[in-house]
Amino acid sequence: MIHQASTTAPVNIATLKYWGKRDPALNLPTNNSISVTLSQDDLRTLTTASCSPDFTQDELWLNGKQEDVSGKRLVACFRELRALRHKMEDSDSSLPKLADQKLKIVSENNFPTAAGLASSAAGFAALIRAVANLYELQETPEQLSIVARQGSGSACRSLYGGYVAWEMGTESDGSDSRAVQIATADHWPEMRAAILVVSADKKDTSSTTGMQVTVHTSPLFKERVTTVVPERFAQMKKSILDRDFPTFAELTMRDSNQFHATCLDSYPPIFYLNDVSRASIRVVEAINKAAGATIAAYTFDAGPNCVIYYEDKNEELVLGALKAILGRVEGWEKHQSVDAKKIDVDERWESELANG
Ligand code: DP6
Repeated sequence: MIHQASTTAPVNIATLKYWGKRDPALNLPTNNSISVTLSQDDLRTLTTASCSPDFTQDELWLNGKQEDVSGKRLVACFRELRALRHKMEDSDSSLPKLADQKLKIVSENNFPTAAGLASSAAGFAALIRAVANLYELQETPEQLSIVARQGSGSACRSLYGGYVAWEMGTESDGSDSRAVQIATADHWPEMRAAILVVSADKKDTSSTTGMQVTVHTSPLFKERVTTVVPERFAQMKKSILDRDFPTFAELTMRDSNQFHATCLDSYPPIFYLNDVSRASIRVVEAINKAAGATIAAYTFDAGPNCVIYYEDKNEELVLGALKAILGRVEGWEKHQSVDAKKIDVDERWESELANG
């Protein structure tokens, strides 16, 4: 007898970046963060979780490849989910005994893994949700976000659509470090995201490693978490609730810039942006200058790919300029959440930039 449940989880792209852990074992962050969840149909992980008395070991398959299941984070997620199921089984003896069975997780991304496109966020969120469905857990997304956070910090934000805050919390056991929804996608239906796929290669420095180098070596980082982020967190939440695009956009760009500045301020320095990334920043600046208003915002995670937020009414202007300057646009269909459009950067650009 096999029990099985499938689910999908979307990618989220931070507009106020999580970068730094105050407790690496529990994956507790040094600062609050905010993100926008993209449409499920554009960038998502599809995951099936199953369990059976016949399975002899826990297994994880990602994009057709078997992955190691001995990593501390995955072990922590399995342990927490099983504990929640155990609690249910203990209080209701008629329930099938699933908690002690081995788990098999099969996961597929429809986008490049580990190229700064938040694959670990969607990956762990889908895993947590799939197992929670399999176990018929009654926990709220907020409670599940505490488990997802232990898999990958940014994953806790992918349990919701729309606009999401990860509140760092103050408890040393991490029991209040969880994600909450600021607003649903419907709150700001005009919001769009375009993704410039500058490179689909795996990044050089993983987020986990990179952020710890920053925490231990960057003086700018200290200033960021103590002075800048607390104020920016409140301002960005307000800009979302007010649907104030120019303010939201400026805060988003400033935060991306500061995050990459702390990477450069790390010792040895960490580089995620490349020449095409920097050219995209210039294009967005040119778009805003020509419009006489801030109508587009760029942001970059731990990789060179550029995510550009804009409002629907400005789509032609923004995508037109990006297309004319940087490459060709492949239309991505519109869906229930924040729509994403994928733009493959013309290879010509990369070689032209490389040749100065
Ligand atoms: C730059 O969530 O991948 O995308 O908790 O170590 O798994 P771990 O890190 P991860 O880091 C994401 C960093 C970021 C910013 C963000 O998403 O907030």
